[in-house]
Amino acid sequence: MPEKTLLKHTDTPNSETMDFYLSQKGYEASRKALTSYEPAKLIDEVKGSGLRGRGGAGFSTGMKWSFVPKDIFPKYLVCNADESEPGTFKDRALIERYPHSVIEGIIIACWAVQINSAFIYIRGEFTLGAKKLQKAIDEAYQKGFLGKNIFGSKFNLDITVHRGAGAYICGEETGLLTSIEGYRGYPKIKPPFPAIQGLFAKPTVINNVETLANLPYILNNGAQWFKSMGTEKSPGPKIFCVSGHVNKPGLYELPLGTPCMEIINNYGGGVWKNRKLKAVIPGGSSAPVLTAAQAEKLNMDYEAVAAAGSMLGSGGLIVMDETVCMVNALYNLIRFYHHESCGQCTPCRYGTGWLDKILHRMEHGNGKQGDIELMLNICDNMRGKTICVLADAAAMPVQSFIKNFRDEFEYHIKEHKCTVTI
Ligand SMILES: Cc1cc2nc3c(=O)[nH]c(=O)nc-3n(C[C@H](O)[C@H](O)[C@H](O)COP(=O)(O)O)c2cc1C
Ligand code: SF4
Repeated sequence: MPEKTLLKHTDTPNSETMDFYLSQKGYEASRKALTSYEPAKLIDEVKGSGLRGRGGAGFSTGMKWSFVPKDIFPKYLVCNADESEPGTFKDRALIERYPHSVIEGIIIACWAVQINSAFIYIRGEFTLGAKKLQKAIDEAYQKGFLGKNIFGSKFNLDITVHRGAGAYICGEETGLLTSIEGYRGYPKIKPPFPAIQGLFAKPTVINNVETLANLPYILNNGAQWFKSMGTEKSPGPKIFCVSGHVNKPGLYELPLGTPCMEIINNYGGGVWKNRKLKAVIPGGSSAPVLTAAQAEKLNMDYEAVAAAGSMLGSGGLIVMDETVCMVNALYNLIRFYHHESCGQCTPCRYGTGWLDKILHRMEHGNGKQGDIELMLNICDNMRGKTICVLADAAAMPVQSFIKNFRDEFEYHIKEHKCTVTI
C-alpha cells in the first residue's frame, strides 16, 4: 500500500485533538503561508500543484481562487461538508478523525484569497462530526490560530460551523449558499458564479473538505511533491470510497490513476462470495455506470474515467456483483433523486417523478412496451435544461444503465421478472 497522507493518522487514537495534530507538524503550513507567502504567490503555488476539487467537478482549485475579485470586501469561504452523494463517505472521516487538517486548509485558502470569514456547511446527520469540528475550532481559537491577529500577524479569520438539515441539494454550491443565508436551499442559476457573487451576494470560494485538507501537505512538501503522485493532469492522492459487493469496503487513499481493478482486488479484497463483477459506478451515484469489461481497463483519474464515458466525481466506487438486478439498482437510485429534487424546475420535478413511476412498475412486473424509449425521452428533456445539474445527475445513471444493460430492461418488460435468478 502506498504511503498515506490525508488518512495517515485517522485510525490513531485521539487523532482529532490539537495535541496530536501539533505533534505531527500541525499548523506549521498555515504559519508558513501567512509569514512567507504573498497571497498571489500562494495561489500560484496551489495552481502549480495541479490540485483539483475533490467535491465532484474536479476543477482547478488555484484557478477557482484566482477568479475572486481582489477589491471587493467582505469575501467568504465555504467548506462544503454536506457529503450526501450515495457511495461517498470520505469527508466524514476527515472531519471526525482529523479535523485540524481541514481547519488548517481553510486558513491557508483564506490567506490566499484574503478572506476573513469562513463557514463549514456540514450535513445535518453528521452530529458527531459537527461536535468534533466545533471542539477543534475552539481549540484553534484558544491557541491563537483563529480569531484576531492569527500567528501574531495582522490577519483575522473566523470560522462558523453551519449545520444542514438533511437535504442532498444543499451540497450543490448555490443551494448551500441559499441555505446559509437562511432560505430554503434552492440552487440559483449560474452565472453569476459564486466566486463573483456568492454568499450574501459577495465573492465566495466554495471548496470540498478533501480539497482543503490537501493544502497543508502541499505547503509543507511543495507542489512538486504533490505532482509526483497521480497523473500529469490528475495529480495527488485521492480518497476512494469503496462500497458494495467487496470483501473489504472502506476508504483507500491512493494516487489518482490507480487502476480500478487494483482498488477492488488488492485493497477492497475482491468481489465478495467469489462472485463475478458485473458493474461499477466509479464516482458516486450520479456517475454513469460502467460494465465489468470497462472496469477492467479503467484507471481512476479524471481523464481516464471521462474517456470511458463516466465521471470520477467524488471517488465513490460502488461495486456490483453478478446477482444485482440492474432494473432494481436503477430504481433504487432514482427514488433517491426523485426524493431529493428541490422541485424548482419542471423537467427535474416531473422528470425524476416519472422515472421513479416507470421504474417502479417495471421492477414490479408491470413494465410496458415503449417504457425504455419513454425513459430516454424524459432524460433528453432533463439534461442541460435546469437550474442545477441534479437533473443531469439523475438522467445520466438512467441513460447509462439502459445503454450498458438494455437486455435486462427489455426482459423485465417482456417476462415481468428479473434475468437474475441467483
Ligand atoms: C446535486 C449536487 C450535490 C453536490 N453535493 C456535494 C457535496 O455534498 N459535497 C461537495 O463537496 N460537493 C458537492 N457538490 C459539488 C459542489 O457544487 C461544488 O462543486 C464543490 O463543493 C466545489 O468544491 P471543490 O472545487 O473543492 O470540489 C454537489 C453538486 C451537485 C450538483
Ligand atoms: S435541477 Fe432539480 S434540484 Fe436542481 S434546481 Fe432544478 S428542480 Fe432543483
